[in-house]
Amino acid sequence: MPKLVVTNREGETSEIEVEDGLTVMEAIRDNGFDELLALCGGCCSCATCHIHIDGGATDKLPAMSEDEDDLLESSEHRTETSRLSCQIPLTSELDGLKVTIAQED
Ligand code: FES
Repeated sequence: MPKLVVTNREGETSEIEVEDGLTVMEAIRDNGFDELLALCGGCCSCATCHIHIDGGATDKLPAMSEDEDDLLESSEHRTETSRLSCQIPLTSELDGLKVTIAQED
């Protein structure tokens, strides 16, 4: 099972094991990080699953859709490393991916 390293808004980091094929959003939400609201349930319409990709791994990720880009544009906390976590299936190629939950807008 791929591992995901998550830093929460307080700066605490934990490593979790994720069932293959779950999205990064589902993995974070199902492991008790209640600060990731994911209000739309993964339909790419709320932007409350905003994360930052740490360690320069953005080139390994699936390309960003126009919808994701538009939604991220509405966030004050968008940076070059921003993604919506519901749009990233955690496959074995992404084993060890490090992410930080973005500050709330
Ligand atoms: S959960 Fe709503 S956009 Fe990701």
